[in-house]
Amino acid sequence: MATLTKIESPITNVGIDSKRPRRLRQSAALRSLFSETNVEPRNLVLPIFVREGNQIKEQIDSMPGIFRLSPDENLEREILEIQSLGIGGIIVFGLPKIKDPFGSEAYNVNGVVQQAVRRIKQTSSELVVICDVCMCEYTDHGHCGILNPRGQVENDRTIEFLARIAVSQANAGADIVAPSAMMDNQVLAIRQGLDSAGFESMPIMSYSSKYASAFYGPFREAAGSAPSFGDRKTYQMDPSNVREALRETRIDVEQGADVIMVKPALSYLDVIKAVRAEFDLPLAAYNVSGEYSMIKAAAINGWIDEERIVDEVLHSIRRAGADIIISYFAKDYARRWKNSH
Ligand code: PBG
Repeated sequence: MATLTKIESPITNVGIDSKRPRRLRQSAALRSLFSETNVEPRNLVLPIFVREGNQIKEQIDSMPGIFRLSPDENLEREILEIQSLGIGGIIVFGLPKIKDPFGSEAYNVNGVVQQAVRRIKQTSSELVVICDVCMCEYTDHGHCGILNPRGQVENDRTIEFLARIAVSQANAGADIVAPSAMMDNQVLAIRQGLDSAGFESMPIMSYSSKYASAFYGPFREAAGSAPSFGDRKTYQMDPSNVREALRETRIDVEQGADVIMVKPALSYLDVIKAVRAEFDLPLAAYNVSGEYSMIKAAAINGWIDEERIVDEVLHSIRRAGADIIISYFAKDYARRWKNSH
């Protein structure tokens, strides 16, 4: 073992010896006082899957602890629990009974999401209800838009449908609409659609940089929304890009987005940080299904400490610069937070 050099003069050594970061880590109270980032339930949004039918509460195999619920008492109970935990909001995804090439159920006044939103609003007028605006759960081919005869997604036809979906969700009582289809000019089309229907106060939370990610795998099982052919790489972004995220975000901001988003979160913390540095709008990050399932799977096997991992993950997303986090862990985290406050 090397012996430490004896300090001859405390004055001349003060520059080196005085820097001891461990001083502020000595006790839980000091650590808490100097903690830089926090995650509160009010910052979290929980995704909810609603499925047409009665008395349905089915667990999603690849997402232990997450269920598909019918828009009845099952949903009502869930909403009351979410509200009592102080969670900031929910984002609703629908599984319709019928799918067709135009995703008509997505804008049906009695579609499953519209039914669910009305029920949620009757149950709780306070909880912020966000509706995902997309077509993949509603089209029989599973793509996020309308196809041309060559099987390509037609951008400009699709955005008309997205606007129609958003207006229908607004009519049902949604507080925020969140377009996730990654069509060019979708924010503009939705803004115009909402405004001309009298919903100029309806905020748009844009999935402004959404990557073509394998981390959505469990969601596609949950929502039955995997494309029946091909992939989503012609509309979702290439995971190797970060400047493109700034370009996409800038366009959405110019078109009137009120909240911007980076999705997924964990492999894209650098993107969250870059977007945060460039834009001043509220920024959401989506801690997606695959990020949830990987942690759950390892925890079920006893390989990791789930609570500590979840704390670490959520704090990392906030530290990168997200204001709000959409996460399937919202209830677990809020329950623990409540018990310790
Ligand atoms: C599209 C949509 C998807 C997710 C949210 N909105 C799936 C996709 O793009 O394939 C994924 C969310 C998750 O993985 O948790 N409607």
